[in-house]
Amino acid sequence: MRGVLLAGGTGSRLLRLTKITNKHLLPVHDRSMVEWAVEALVAAGVSDLLLVTGGSRIGDFMQLLGDGHELGLNSLNYAVQEHAGGIAEALGLAESFAEGEAIVVMLADNIFEWSFEATIAAFSANPVGCRLVLSESDDVDHLRHLGVPEIDDQGTIRSIIEKPQDPPSSFAVTGVYCYDPDVFTIIKTLVPSGRGELEITDVNNHYVREGRAAFDVQPGFWGDAGESIAAYQSVGEFVSRHGANKAR
Ligand code: G1P
Repeated sequence: MRGVLLAGGTGSRLLRLTKITNKHLLPVHDRSMVEWAVEALVAAGVSDLLLVTGGSRIGDFMQLLGDGHELGLNSLNYAVQEHAGGIAEALGLAESFAEGEAIVVMLADNIFEWSFEATIAAFSANPVGCRLVLSESDDVDHLRHLGVPEIDDQGTIRSIIEKPQDPPSSFAVTGVYCYDPDVFTIIKTLVPSGRGELEITDVNNHYVREGRAAFDVQPGFWGDAGESIAAYQSVGEFVSRHGANKAR
């Protein structure tokens, strides 16, 4: 399956570290944050990748990642997001790259202890609707900063609430999403949220309403290194000690 790696945004939550660079270029243990994400996608079976980022730092990404061969990719393409219009807007730029096929999308600040290869394999076998990667957390305050699904007794997602005051479950929606090609039609129907962005949670809720959203719960550690300075530091410490993207 082709992959789309989203590495844009203003990085405002990591200021001052991001005053002169893109957050995904910041170091995590012994390499740049974005390299962990590329490695995760390669480990999960992605060989053709589109990286979407803001225009001002695209040259740095190219210098770092080149054509992706050294990292195990067959091809690495680049697209520029002109304005920070949200994750779903950035994903919309991947329509021609996808060429009508299913894709896996990853937010480049997400780091996983274990490979999510099983999720990609399951979606590849039946590439319809969407398939989300969830991570369990008992930290209610942390969940308030994320997308959180409401899951019924049958194990079906009923809705996803973005940054809920009162989280409806103990699961976070991580930044790995598998989509069928309908995702690009759905993105065109979205309207900006309160924070002025096209939200990936609105895309996912579209699939939820259609009864076409599956999910897996990812074991082990998951971190969003772009969430805050504290999260950035704790993700770095975890990776230094335990590594990331390990085969299960
Ligand atoms: C985004 C998504 C959120 C998800 C998170 C995972 O949040 O909107 O649903 O839980 O990524 O990293 P953001 O980082 O844009 O606040």
